[in-house]
Amino acid sequence: MKGLVLSGGRGRRLRPLTYTGAKQLVPVANRPILFYVLENLSEAGIQDVGMIISPETGKEIKSAVGEGKDWGLKVEYILQEEPLGLAHAVKVARPYLGMNPFIMYLGDNLIGSGIAKFRRDFEQSKADASILLKEVDTPANFGIAEVDKQGRVIRLVEKPKTPISNLALVGIYFFSAKIHEAVTKIRPSLRGELEITDAIQWLLDNENKVLSHRLEEWWLDTGKKDDLLTANTAVLDDWTRRKIRGNVDATSQVIGRVDMGKGSHIINSTVRGPVVIGENVHIEGSFIGPFTSIGNGCRIRSAVVEHSVVLENAVIEHIDRLEDSLIGKGSLIVQGNGNHHAYRLTVGDVSVVEL
Ligand code: G1P
Repeated sequence: MKGLVLSGGRGRRLRPLTYTGAKQLVPVANRPILFYVLENLSEAGIQDVGMIISPETGKEIKSAVGEGKDWGLKVEYILQEEPLGLAHAVKVARPYLGMNPFIMYLGDNLIGSGIAKFRRDFEQSKADASILLKEVDTPANFGIAEVDKQGRVIRLVEKPKTPISNLALVGIYFFSAKIHEAVTKIRPSLRGELEITDAIQWLLDNENKVLSHRLEEWWLDTGKKDDLLTANTAVLDDWTRRKIRGNVDATSQVIGRVDMGKGSHIINSTVRGPVVIGENVHIEGSFIGPFTSIGNGCRIRSAVVEHSVVLENAVIEHIDRLEDSLIGKGSLIVQGNGNHHAYRLTVGDVSVVEL
């Protein structure tokens, strides 16, 4: 079984961060979301992955993933010239996929479990599609499924205006070659895209077997800022282990599950885990609170930072309190004299913010 990973698109919803980068490479706990996706595929025994890329961010994805050796995968790249939808991506990938069953995985989706069990079920079932469902609070933002009491899928609607249920389609799908016929039968949706949700509905309408599973663990579609912070919290909470490389001076305290990279220095500061700190980070006279990720090369001086994602080479100085914030790469956040405030910020890459 091959994998098809979707890493195209323009990432409108995560702007401003994705003006300068691919949304699939935005880090959660200092690792790009896409790396968790590749790890999950590899752990489920997938060896060959077709990676859908866009003209805008394809280069960046390629240089981050390469040939996939880090995950024991063989990754090939497939260019989708325009973001015309998930079902369109399947069309573009058809020569690569051939007539084999495959798993399609959206490169910005993160789940709190492996996928090997879902793969096994799909292979044993001889179904033409298998979908994963998870309850959500905002059905209008997702593909939504209506299921009967036995859990059979009755109907699927992409981003329904009037909700038909609160069960969203997670961005992980298993398909037989039947999907190639389905994607040729559907028409673009109101947003002008060929929706995979409509293609699966076509399978249902034409008497094909569609399996569904409820996802028990957490799921985050990291396309939005709050989700990214939630994802960061979930990953730090579940997966961070204490590992201190670098230096902690005698006047500092590093408490709990803190993962700190080499070449980093903590001076006269307190760090309370779970926290991930990258390499060559300088923290001085500061408090770093739980659920914070700090990328490589950041400098934090005389600041309180909590429940935030700070991307590489950002500088934060003299800030009373920064919380629930997302700070882009290479940004400078400084507070002028006499201001005492708590801030919640979303700041793109290489910005300067004087408060
Ligand atoms: C896409 C799908 C939607 C699915 C979601 C999961 O939405 O169209 O059905 O629920 O991914 O992440 P999009 O991210 O394109 O809005």
